[in-house]
Amino acid sequence: MNRRQFLAISTACALLPATGRAGAMRLRAEPVAVRLLPDEEGHGPAEMLGFNGRTPGPEIRVRAGGRVSVAFENGIDRPSAIHWHGIHIDNAMDGVPGLTQDAVAPGATFEYDFAAPHPGTYWYHAHHRSWEQVAKGLYGPLIVEERDPPKVDRDIAVVLDDWRLTPDGGLHPSFGNRHDFSHAGRLGNYARAFFSRDRVRAGDRVRLRLINAATARTFKVRIGGGSGAVVAQDGMPLAAPEPMGEPVLAPAQRTDIVLDAANPVTFHLLPRGEPYPLGTLAVEGANPAPARGPVEPLPPTPVAAPDAKGARRLTLAMEGGAMGGRHRGDDFWAFNGRSGMPDAPWQRFARGETARITMRNDTAFPHGIHIHGHHFHELGADGTPGHYRDTTLVDPRKSRDVLCVFDNPGKWLIHCHTLGHQASGMKTWVEVA
Ligand code: C2O
Ligand code: CU
Repeated sequence: MNRRQFLAISTACALLPATGRAGAMRLRAEPVAVRLLPDEEGHGPAEMLGFNGRTPGPEIRVRAGGRVSVAFENGIDRPSAIHWHGIHIDNAMDGVPGLTQDAVAPGATFEYDFAAPHPGTYWYHAHHRSWEQVAKGLYGPLIVEERDPPKVDRDIAVVLDDWRLTPDGGLHPSFGNRHDFSHAGRLGNYARAFFSRDRVRAGDRVRLRLINAATARTFKVRIGGGSGAVVAQDGMPLAAPEPMGEPVLAPAQRTDIVLDAANPVTFHLLPRGEPYPLGTLAVEGANPAPARGPVEPLPPTPVAAPDAKGARRLTLAMEGGAMGGRHRGDDFWAFNGRSGMPDAPWQRFARGETARITMRNDTAFPHGIHIHGHHFHELGADGTPGHYRDTTLVDPRKSRDVLCVFDNPGKWLIHCHTLGHQASGMKTWVEVA
């Protein structure tokens, strides 16, 4: 099947499974059969992995400050673990085999129990052989609600992903392909959005929570059918809403948008060629009392103030890859000349210490760098703080400074969220005492 055939396929509406209220719940990783392509094409289902029988897994919702308590049952034939991406979490619950826990053996159960301090849009995903387990579907949305949520008519999670499919609609078996690892990662040939509900009324004010669950693809998205504003990035509120524009999400990034829907709300991926349809929220009926007035900012999340002047100056140089800089490591990718996990942490911080990290991309590919357990301020060229994120996209041959207050004790992974890059060397860790 070639790309033109894919572009000719209409996007069926794809609904996320029902919400799980976090109190105590169970998440079982298991094989699932999923029909990704529309039925009328006569394709069989793809053999994938999911939680509780579905991919994406159930949307978990919890009130800020509340606890998430999940019995994770591993029903697949390989070890696994769950990472709660973006949560300033208790280190023991971070879900990183080899650093914060042992991988959960097939048939075994692990109890995750943690507080979710900050409201926002997060997600959970497998963190063992993630380049394969996430690509096969082991992920889901994790929504931490404001204590006093802003008024909207609809609150809809929009999970973006792509898959590499065979002509009969199955997952292409080329997992762990070394060519993918040394280039842009496992890019799919078919992309789609999953929605937590698939209709709105004309005049509704809708909160859209975009989550990029892809293992490699950066999504640039065009949203039609209404006017909107960006209110949060990676779960964290913006001081003032920003024009919606065409949001760009690196793997693992999230963007919250508040949109006043006038018509069906359409989502298109903007690749190099024609806009590619990802899905549509249909319009059914009209809102008798549409919201008026500008989109208000979300209530601010109190976070630790960085000590910009006293910050420890560090450089994290991304190296390697095809057509890339040399490094001394023994795999494709490296940070600062070191490929793979060092035995000792890259840095140790006293709790509350601020670091100013220059993330310098010396390679020919973009990298979305994620720091576990923390958010950090992206700094503009003149040093002014911009967005407060947990994953930052650095383009080839570019560099970005970030300011991070390391105030969460424990051992924290730092890695590229192109998961094939992580697997082939682009990772390290820090320790906060
Ligand atoms: Cu979402 Cu270590 O990653
Ligand atoms: Cu990368």
